[in-house]
Amino acid sequence: MPLLSDPLVTDRLTLKNRIVMPPMANDLSSGAGEVTEKHIKHYQARAQAGVGLIIVEHSYIMPSGKMTKKQLGIYKDELTGGLRSLAGAIREAGAASAIQLTHAGANTTAAVCGCQPVGPSDVPVPSRDEIPRPLDTAEIGEIVEAYAQAARRAVEAGFDAIEIHGAHGFLLCEFVSPLMNRRADEYGGSTENRLRLPLEVIAAVRRQTGPDYPLFYRFGASDFIQGGLTLEEARQIAPQLTAAGIDFLDISGGMCGSRPKALADTQGYFVPMAESIKSTVDVPVIAVGGITDPAYANSVVADGRADLVAVGRALLKNPDWARQALEQI
Ligand SMILES: Cc1cc2nc3c(=O)[nH]c(=O)nc-3n(C[C@H](O)[C@H](O)[C@H](O)COP(=O)(O)O)c2cc1C
Repeated sequence: MPLLSDPLVTDRLTLKNRIVMPPMANDLSSGAGEVTEKHIKHYQARAQAGVGLIIVEHSYIMPSGKMTKKQLGIYKDELTGGLRSLAGAIREAGAASAIQLTHAGANTTAAVCGCQPVGPSDVPVPSRDEIPRPLDTAEIGEIVEAYAQAARRAVEAGFDAIEIHGAHGFLLCEFVSPLMNRRADEYGGSTENRLRLPLEVIAAVRRQTGPDYPLFYRFGASDFIQGGLTLEEARQIAPQLTAAGIDFLDISGGMCGSRPKALADTQGYFVPMAESIKSTVDVPVIAVGGITDPAYANSVVADGRADLVAVGRALLKNPDWARQALEQI
């Protein structure tokens, strides 16, 4: 089995080691979603210190999907220049780069996104009060197209990969969740129907990127909430995501954020879920959740539980985490 320090080589992407900086929003943008100098410094510092892959934070693909006022955006062509500088800075600092594309769905407020938040149904995300407006099929088509255009911008900006956000109560996660999705049309009900929008987005993104470009999907593999998606159903869904063209699965979970209260915030709290999903697919899998200890991170890879390890808050706290970890193991 490989170690944390070993490269990961696929026919679409080569990473110099198995350490991933997962997407972490930092609200450093202007109100219009532009990349700022602060973004460049933030990501450059982690890339220079040896992270193999940096997944740039969730970036909204259209204004109705904006979650916070200073969120990074990828919703119009004018933003591509700044994104190109960011991708270039990460590359020059020695890391591979991906950018996470997202629509917040019901996980926002009218005050931020400028309209009544939208979702699969009129069911609010459990952590929010505002009732979302159910999308009609024409609007769903517009969202799919917005993902495609955002993907085109990501490729034009020079990112090495794209990650589609399908976790943490954002729009695609809401469609998959039986708790949030009460639709009676072809987008609701059966697993096949609830998965329809994510699969349409993957297909539309793939059409823009071409066949050989690496696509990641951040899959919320359990909602950790009564009536929501369970790991058992997620194990049926994961192979369908890869069959649709996903090359890497980034396994997270939680309808109300990435750190469900139901789980103690312990070392590797989502690793068992990543390991379970890994046994259903034949693409590389990223594990995440409370990982701070280099020896533990190395054991996740060395024991074959996941192919890559994402280290979030520990990298925010200590930009040099990767360098120090690689020296220690
Ligand atoms: C400040 C902050 C911002 C985050 N933003 C995102 C995001 O934009 N997209 C996403 O998928 N997850 C986001 N997350 C979740 C992280 O990617 C990660 O899954 C989570 O923090 C657990 O990993 P950790 O315990 O190593 O921090 C965020 C987490 C934090 C702490």
